[in-house]
Amino acid sequence: MSEYEHRPVLVDEVVTCLQITPEGTYLDCTTGEGGHAEEVGRRLSSEGTLFMLDVDAGVLAIARERLSRTAARKVFIRGNFRDMTQLLRDYPGIGFDGILMDLGFSSEQLAGVGKGFSFTHDQPLDMRLDDTLTVSARDVVNSFPEDRISDIIFTFGEEGRARQVAKAIVRRRQRAPIEMTADLAETVATVFPSRHTRIHPATKSFQALRIYVNDELNALTDGLKAATTVLKPNGRLLVISYHSLEDRIVKRLYLALCERPDSGEPGFRLVNKKVIRPSDAEVATNRRSRSAKLRVLERVQR
Ligand SMILES: C[S@@+](CC[C@H](N)C(=O)[O-])C[C@H]1O[C@@H](n2cnc3c(N)ncnc32)[C@H](O)[C@@H]1O
Repeated sequence: MSEYEHRPVLVDEVVTCLQITPEGTYLDCTTGEGGHAEEVGRRLSSEGTLFMLDVDAGVLAIARERLSRTAARKVFIRGNFRDMTQLLRDYPGIGFDGILMDLGFSSEQLAGVGKGFSFTHDQPLDMRLDDTLTVSARDVVNSFPEDRISDIIFTFGEEGRARQVAKAIVRRRQRAPIEMTADLAETVATVFPSRHTRIHPATKSFQALRIYVNDELNALTDGLKAATTVLKPNGRLLVISYHSLEDRIVKRLYLALCERPDSGEPGFRLVNKKVIRPSDAEVATNRRSRSAKLRVLERVQR
C-alpha cells in the first residue's frame, strides 16, 4: 500500500480479475483519488498505458500526484463515463484489456463539493454535479407535483414511505421554499416516528434526489454499453456497485450480452456466475465496502 490511507474496495479481487499484463492498456472510468488506479499502475511497465477518467477534476489532480512515480503511460480525462466514446475521440480504434467502474461518490467528495448531497452538512439543496444540468434538487422539491416527487423517492430511493415523504415535502413548502439540506432532512424525518434506525431516515430520499438530478442510472447504462465497445477480445469489464438499483442494471446488461446469439457481434461471458462480495475482514475495516458487489464480464474471442 502507499502513503494514501484509504484502501480501495475489493482491491485484491479487482487486481486478480483484471489479469493485468505489464504492457496492457487499461481504463479506470471512476478514478477518484486513484486507489485502484495506483494498484493497476504499479503493475504496468513503461509499455503499459492507464487511462484515468473522472467527472470530478479535483480528485483527478490527487490521482495524478498519486501515480506520478509509476512507470506506465498515463492519460487523465475529465468527463462523464456516459460520454466515453466522445471522450476517447483522440484515440481512434483504442481497445482496452481491462476496464473498471467503481461506482458512486465518496462521502468526503459529496460533503466537500458544497452542493447539498448529504444531510450531514447543511448546504444549499442543489445536487447537480454538472453545472450545465437544468434541474436541481431544489427545483424538484419546490416545484414538482406531489405524485412526481413520490415516484422519484420510491423509484430511486426504494423508500417504502415515499408517499408520506412527498406529502410532508409539499406541506412544508407551502410555508416557505425548502432551500437547505437541513430543511429537507428535518421534513423527511417527520414521517418516521422513532429515530432508532441505524441510518438517518432521510438517507433514501437524498439518494433518490441525487440519482434523479444527475440521471445516474441512465449514465450507468450508457457508460456500460460504451465500455463493451472498447474492450479487446479477452478484455474484462469490472463493475463495483453499491446499491441494488445499480447492481440490477449491471447484472441485466451482462446477461443480455452473454445471451446474444452468434451474430457477428462480439461475444461475452460472465467470469463469475455469482457476484463477488467483500470478506468479513474487509467490511470490518471499511464500512463503505459492506454493500459492494463486483461483477466481471469478459469479451470472448469469436
Ligand atoms: C467510489 S469513487 C472511486 C474511488 C476509486 N476507485 C479509488 O480507489 O480511489 C467513484 C468515483 O467515480 C466518479 N464518478 C461517479 N459517476 C461518474 C460518472 N458518471 N462519470 C465519471 N466519473 C464518475 C466520482 O467522481 C468518484 O470520484
